[in-house]
Amino acid sequence: MNIELIQGDILEKTCDLLTLYQFKDAKRLTGITAAADEEMAGAISALIEQKSFEGKLGENMVFPTFGKMKARSVALIGLGDKKKFNADVVRKIGGYMVKLSREHKMRSVATNLPGVETASLPARESAQALTEGLLLAGHQFHIYKGAQFKKEKKPRELGQVFILETDKRALKFGPEGLETGCVLAEATMLARDLVNTPSADMTPAQLVEEAQKLAVRGSNISCKILDQKAMERMGMNAALSVARGSQHAPVGAHLIYRPKNSKKTVAIVGKAVTFDSGGLSLKQANSMETMKIDMAGAASVIGLFKALTVLKPEVTVHGIFLAVENMPGGSAYRPGDVVTAMDGTTIEIKNTDAEGRVTLADALVYANKQKPDLMIDLATLTGACVVALGEDIAGLMTNNQKLGQKLLTAARETGEQLWELPLYEPYMEPIKSKIADINNTGGREAGAIKGALFLKPFVGETAWAHLDIAGPSYAEKETRPDQPCGGTGYGVRLLAKFLMSL
Ligand code: BES
Ligand code: MN
Ligand code: ZN
Repeated sequence: MNIELIQGDILEKTCDLLTLYQFKDAKRLTGITAAADEEMAGAISALIEQKSFEGKLGENMVFPTFGKMKARSVALIGLGDKKKFNADVVRKIGGYMVKLSREHKMRSVATNLPGVETASLPARESAQALTEGLLLAGHQFHIYKGAQFKKEKKPRELGQVFILETDKRALKFGPEGLETGCVLAEATMLARDLVNTPSADMTPAQLVEEAQKLAVRGSNISCKILDQKAMERMGMNAALSVARGSQHAPVGAHLIYRPKNSKKTVAIVGKAVTFDSGGLSLKQANSMETMKIDMAGAASVIGLFKALTVLKPEVTVHGIFLAVENMPGGSAYRPGDVVTAMDGTTIEIKNTDAEGRVTLADALVYANKQKPDLMIDLATLTGACVVALGEDIAGLMTNNQKLGQKLLTAARETGEQLWELPLYEPYMEPIKSKIADINNTGGREAGAIKGALFLKPFVGETAWAHLDIAGPSYAEKETRPDQPCGGTGYGVRLLAKFLMSL
């Protein structure tokens, strides 16, 4: 999809579809919509009355122009409540545009920057959000479709978007937003593709290779590979034990982004279980079906680094993951085994399906050795978090309220849902082990919190936030127009926003 921001009158643009916007319960047509109505001899206002168009968010009406305008047809799209209007609404509008064009087989669309004419949103933000919405909604994953699919004529997709503006400020700041939107959408789509790729192909070695691809010469990114020997040398016996049942050797990646001026150092750790069968504590068939997504944390770390090279925040960022596959097998780790993490902590394995935290123990200890000012981990850690918050919302657990608030603010701005759960210490009781330092599980209740409490000792005194993304990293059904089913790339834009705000 090609998106261009150009100077000019939208009503004069030749295209398949011209989009006009209307807030909810607006008394009368204003601005460009009114001008278009005039050219159409009042047809738009008549239709609004007749069809009782209310302007609810995403509500739309498409009608032909019968040669009265340069555009072949016009779409009137509702912006919803004026008081609730923000960048995330614009992102959804971008998504609706893609879906509308698909439905009506339109290939070129002309639009203004939503919210700019009414001064509801700065041009830069509107352009960024619209671009994100358009590209993310248009993203498809069909590399695994067969020859027949590829031979068939593709359904007509939106190929060209013209954003027309006449306002000086919009023309000055819009293009910057468009550029940022492109970068963030592409980074998010990379994370989605990695998650969508079947585990047979997205092996630990492959995942590490995907990280390595970002460390090109001339970029400010480097990538260190932690192969099995290196992991053994460093004493990462917790992570190594999870991998023992698999044919695939464990391997880690340590990405570093170094800007010219660095104000802070941040470490971001991703869970990277390329397939989670549960191990000897085998999962039921239906729970295993989507477990290729169990490396979504690492996928988002990789996506984030793709964006960092362009966004260039003034913080040093370490991106770390230890990739393993959790399988049953003759040499698999067992319930009852005791494994020793890199910092010497002994872990009694109660359930081999609580493997994410066992691998993260070593990853967090390793990350903390980089002496970061703060650490964040992203992990598809618990089904319990999905039970607590549902599929759309990630759980935030932190030992530092200031850090937590900053992440919640970033999430609000990017439209990624995030909600805090308490790191309630008394729940630590059942994960105390009789024979080792700590158990890897401790009962069904408050599973998301117990998962986070398990991780807590491994970060020491460092400010740390744990994001349990088991729910929102994968969309079973479409809940937003800019998010097709499958991997979502949750966390890429949120973390980019957070790092830019430091
Ligand atoms: N990868 C799963 C968590 C998960 C569940 C992610 C659903 C995405 C969707 C994790 O490794 C796991 O199996 N957790 C167990 C923990 C339990 C054994 C304490 C769970 O949630 O059941
Ligand atoms: Mn598991
Ligand atoms: Zn898992």
